[in-house]
Amino acid sequence: MLSRVFTQARQLAQSSVRTVATAAELGKLGEPSKRVFEKEDKYGAHNYHPLPVALCKGKGVHVWDVEGNQYYDFLSAYSAVNQGHCHPKIIEALKGQAEVLTLTSRAFYSNLLGEYEEFMHNLFGYDKVLPMNTGVEGGETACKLARRWGYDVKGIPKNEAKIVFAAGNFWGRTLAAISSSSDPDCYGGFGPFMPGFSTIPYNDVSALQAALKDPKVCAFMVEPIQGEAGVVVPDPGYLKAIRDTCTKNNVLWIADEVQTGLARTGRRLCVDYEEVRPDLVVLGKALSGGVYPVSAVLADDEVMLTIKPGEHGSTYGGNPVACKIAMAALQVLEEENLAENAFKLGEVLRNELRKLPTDVVSIVRGKGLLNAIVINEKFSAWDVCVKLRDNGLLAKPTHGDIIRFAPPLIINEKQIMECAEIISSTIMDFAKTL
Ligand SMILES: Cc1ncc(COP(=O)(O)O)c(C=O)c1O
Repeated sequence: MLSRVFTQARQLAQSSVRTVATAAELGKLGEPSKRVFEKEDKYGAHNYHPLPVALCKGKGVHVWDVEGNQYYDFLSAYSAVNQGHCHPKIIEALKGQAEVLTLTSRAFYSNLLGEYEEFMHNLFGYDKVLPMNTGVEGGETACKLARRWGYDVKGIPKNEAKIVFAAGNFWGRTLAAISSSSDPDCYGGFGPFMPGFSTIPYNDVSALQAALKDPKVCAFMVEPIQGEAGVVVPDPGYLKAIRDTCTKNNVLWIADEVQTGLARTGRRLCVDYEEVRPDLVVLGKALSGGVYPVSAVLADDEVMLTIKPGEHGSTYGGNPVACKIAMAALQVLEEENLAENAFKLGEVLRNELRKLPTDVVSIVRGKGLLNAIVINEKFSAWDVCVKLRDNGLLAKPTHGDIIRFAPPLIINEKQIMECAEIISSTIMDFAKTL
C-alpha cells in the first residue's frame, strides 16, 4: 500500500518535470541562460512558469540578462518597481539603515516606526497604519480588521460575518486569498475554503447593492482596476457607487491598491480618479520600490482600534529597514511626480498601441502605465512575449491571451516611443503570418 503511494507520488513529480525552454523559446539565448533555467527547474518548486530570460542586473527602466543583453522592463515586478530598478535614494535608505538597526520585532519600540506611521498619516490622510510585509498579508489584515469591526461595531452575531469580493479578484496565494478566488488555477485542489466569503461580478453595481443588503456583510473588498485579471478597468462611476452602497449599508469598503496604488495608474491612489475614500486601503509592492517586502493597511480609528495588542502582527512588519525604505520610496513617487508622468505617458502609450493591427491585437485598455493588450485567439500571448524579449522588451502574458504593459514610472517619452516601436514591429511580424 505504502509503496503504491510512493510510486504515485514519484509519477506525479515526474509528470510535473518540464523542459525549461524549447529551442524556439531559447532564441538567441545561450548556455549561461540555460544553466540558470535548469538549476531552478531542478532544485526549485515548479510553482511558476517564468518567461525564459535570466536577469542579473537592473537600473532604472532597464534590466540585463546573464549574457549581457539589455531589456526594457515592461512588467516592473507586477508594479513593485514603479520607481525604477535600484533607485539610488531607496538603495541609500536600505544601505544606511542596514548598518544601524534592522529588526527589533514589535516587542520593543524602534525610533523609526512612529516616524513612518506619521509620514503615512500625513500623505494618505488616514488616522492609522498597520504595517505588514507582503501584499497578501495586507489583504488578510484588512479582512481581519473588517470582521472584528463587524462584530464590535456593526453588531454582527459572533462568527457570522461575511466579506464580499468581486469575481476575477487576485490578492495573493494564501488560503484566505484563494478562498475568494474565481480562478480554478488559484483555488483548485486546495480546499476546504474560508467560510463567509462570497463573490459578485466585477463592475456590477446592482449585484453589489443586492449583496450588501445582507446585514451580516462587514466588508466589500475590491481592486479599483483588476490587475491580474488582465487590467480590467471598470466603468466610470463604479468606485463612487461602491462608496455610496457601502455607506448606505454600513459596510466597510476595502480597496486593494497593492497593484493600482502608488502612482501606477496616474494618481497617487487609483480611487483618487473618482475622489472617493475607501474605509481601508491595502498597499504593498511599490511601497518599497521593489527593494524589500513592505505592505500596509490604512484605516481610521473606528476600524483600526478594534484590534488589540496580541491579536494581529508579524515579526518583520514595520521593521526599521522597511520604514526607512518605504519613506524613501514614497518620497521618490512624490518628488519625481511619477503619478503625473504615468498619466501622461500612459496616454502616449495607449495611442500608439491603438494603431496596432486589430487582427492581432483586439483590445487595448488601461489607465496610466497599467495597461494590457488582448491578443487575437489565432496567436499565443506567450509567443508574442518571447518575440518581444528577443526584440529587447520584457512583458508577461496572463490568462493565455492578455499581455500587461507596466514599465517603471520613471520612463520618459523618448523611451516610451522606443518601446512602442518594439511592440509595433513585433506585432507586425505576427500580422504578416496571417
Ligand atoms: C491587487 C493585488 N493584491 C495583492 C497582491 C499580493 O501581493 P504579494 O504578492 O506581495 O503578496 C497582488 C499581487 O500580485 C495584487 O496584484
